[in-house]
Amino acid sequence: MFETLTLEEILTGRKALMDGWGGRPGIIITRAKGAKLWDSEGKEYIDCTSQAFSLNIGANHPRVIEAVREQLEKATHIAYHLDSFPLLTLTRKLTQLAPGDLNRVNFCLEGSLASESAMKLAIKNRPGCKYFIVFEHGYHGRNLPTMAVSWTDPRPSFSYFKENVIKVPEAYCYRCKFNLSYPSCNLECARFLEETIEKNKKEGIIAVMMEPVQGNGGQISFPPEFHQKVREICDRHNVLLIWDEVQTGFGRVGKMFAAELYKVVPDILVFGKAVAGGFPLAGIVVRDKLKPFDAGENAFTFAHFPLSLAAACVTIDVLREEKLLERCERLNQEIITYLRNLQEKYEIIGDVRGPGLAIGIELVKDRDTKEPAVKEANELVKMSLERGVMFGISKYAGLGNVVKIKPPLVITDEEVEKVLSVFKECVEKIQKRV
Ligand SMILES: Cc1ncc(COP(=O)(O)O)c(C=O)c1O
Repeated sequence: MFETLTLEEILTGRKALMDGWGGRPGIIITRAKGAKLWDSEGKEYIDCTSQAFSLNIGANHPRVIEAVREQLEKATHIAYHLDSFPLLTLTRKLTQLAPGDLNRVNFCLEGSLASESAMKLAIKNRPGCKYFIVFEHGYHGRNLPTMAVSWTDPRPSFSYFKENVIKVPEAYCYRCKFNLSYPSCNLECARFLEETIEKNKKEGIIAVMMEPVQGNGGQISFPPEFHQKVREICDRHNVLLIWDEVQTGFGRVGKMFAAELYKVVPDILVFGKAVAGGFPLAGIVVRDKLKPFDAGENAFTFAHFPLSLAAACVTIDVLREEKLLERCERLNQEIITYLRNLQEKYEIIGDVRGPGLAIGIELVKDRDTKEPAVKEANELVKMSLERGVMFGISKYAGLGNVVKIKPPLVITDEEVEKVLSVFKECVEKIQKRV
């Protein structure tokens, strides 16, 4: 099945597809392994997007395939209210891994729904309160409530639930909203967050909801101290702290969770993407002092999906046994050093940032004005693709100027070498045209 399609079948299939993303390069992927993808023409790509940042242990990891195959023979779908061995194994594993005292898990299949689950549980635990406070470049998904708490598309189509959301500037030090510099700024953005909480105390703040490293909005990482300050502020004002670790979880930042990297325990942690080695799974892990969901409040038809649960159990083992977290940290140092050297040579590279393999390179037309080089970033991604390297880009539909290097943690040293040399070649060409 699916060995090939005629041109007509391809074209009619494409025509019938309603795309909600924007900017499809027209590549048909037929095979994937580790950090590599192959298209229907046989062309090979090194994947620095980990397929929407989900393949931390690489594509088609043999242990995942084996676990899923074994489960396929037993049961492919089990209703929400029944138990299964994969379900109970994973809840136990996740609560052992999760930071601090987070020890209750609720599953679903998509990160957006998991973020919404976190919002629902927070609302339940702060009855009568009105606002979520979120950061300007944060991203939490694409269902209606999570669109309301995500970065603002300049062409907004949906504006539901926004009356319950307050947005504040994050510690985006490269483009500080307060025109200050870290560390002499004394984290004015954190002070502003506290002031916002105080000003809206009467109507009540449900939670501060944030990504520990912002992905979609611009691959923005914050000074570690910012994280600790936000936690202190939330504690001081009895506001819940939700960390959306859908992108940062399961090794992406060189630790199992960013919570470990930044030494912060949120009240609710949202996970998704890489948890199940390429199978769909997401959810929340929460402090058990929070009031849990009651009957009927958060259960979904496929939330107990045994294939994904089995895949997740072995994904966690693989991350540890193959020492992928350590590998991720080492590759971070090598890649960042290489890119910072390039930055000295090429004016278009405004900023290089990020922990682990969550690396962002912000392109600018001019170092002084920092005018975003959006067209150039899109061009770089396109040129690299022609050369067999798939980079990510911040913001969908070609709206961003941050190129992302976020490959599977199993990427080989030779593959990293090729990625960096393609990046350099393309930057060089684009720099000449700016
Ligand atoms: C931080 C974060 N939260 C939530 C989501 C939504 O996840 P999904 O696309 O699985 O619904 C994403 C997806 O990119 C994300 O990066």
